[in-house]
Amino acid sequence: MIENDFIPSSYKYEKEQGRVQWKAPSNIALVKYWGKKQNQLPANASVSFTLDECRTVTSVTFTKLDKANKEFSFDLLFEGKSREDFKPKIVTFFERIEKYIPFIRNYHFSINTSNTFPHSSGIASSASGMAALALCLMDIEKQMASEMDPDFFYKKASFLARLGSGSACRSIKGNLVQWGDHNEIIGSTNLYGIPYPYPVDEVFKSFQDTILLVHKGQKSVSSTVGHDLMHGHPFAKNRFEQAYDNLIRLRSIFTEGNLDDFVEVVESEALTLHAMMMTSIPYFILMKPNTLNIIEKIWEFRRATKNHLCFTLDAGANVHLLYPNNEKNEVNKFIKEELIAYCENEQYICDRIGFGAKKM
Ligand code: DP6
Repeated sequence: MIENDFIPSSYKYEKEQGRVQWKAPSNIALVKYWGKKQNQLPANASVSFTLDECRTVTSVTFTKLDKANKEFSFDLLFEGKSREDFKPKIVTFFERIEKYIPFIRNYHFSINTSNTFPHSSGIASSASGMAALALCLMDIEKQMASEMDPDFFYKKASFLARLGSGSACRSIKGNLVQWGDHNEIIGSTNLYGIPYPYPVDEVFKSFQDTILLVHKGQKSVSSTVGHDLMHGHPFAKNRFEQAYDNLIRLRSIFTEGNLDDFVEVVESEALTLHAMMMTSIPYFILMKPNTLNIIEKIWEFRRATKNHLCFTLDAGANVHLLYPNNEKNEVNKFIKEELIAYCENEQYICDRIGFGAKKM
């Protein structure tokens, strides 16, 4: 598919008003998206686990305007409170998607959104937030179209979500989601995320993700600034090649259920992401001392138990602990006894792989 396939020719029905509601999960990248080109196109392909517990619930009430507005007409409640400071991000999103859902000029939208995880936890809410909003808008478009194939619905929702935040396109459908052109991944595209198209061993279908909240403050580098650091980065070319190769490696790892190799790829990806930030100009260290303390402990634990607990990181200090469900008891004991002490206010979130967004 190409971009223009997402531009509707006309709408069959005109709805006066209505309300839609969707919940969309967050996701955690195994191969990281870091670096982008114009129009929210990724510099390299990525793959992520969809989460289950960490999600955004968004409802949109829409009312037809007497005449199309010059400005986008919407109000926004976040966790029950009006948040003017969130609006510019939505305006940018609307500007980017207007061409693909032209009805947005003709309506007033009341957007009501909330997260299941604390906003100040340092967990990115842009993925689940943009995914939930994109799905609400697609749901409205679907009501105006004569018919819409479900496959098209989800592809376009992911396409729109990507224009809000790149990683959001991986929060629509599927438990393991691939995004970005890759010669050896069938159906892959820069335009939207796809459910991973190859066999995946059962062990990955019940993977656990415990998120240790090491530092709950605002991230010191926004992802927009972060992606920009890859322009002219001395190691960018090698990094993009490495991501490409890691996706090839993961294909057999997923099929065979090879946990040792999984651990190696995932941890290497996380550390490379941070290495890119440490070696850019300007440079940043986004880990905190406790991030490193946790990593040391994980490595000790793995040496001692031969378990398959591994970590990954986003562009921040929090640590995602990934492990198979059948190692849960031992790992949870270890988390409680050894790792919680490194969390801010001993806070952590128990999550697991989930299956994508849902209409409510
Ligand atoms: C480190 O999707 O937040 O989490 O497209 O600018 O909104 P924008 O970036 P964003 O970047 C996510 C970066 C990451 C890695 C990943 O999720 O793949």
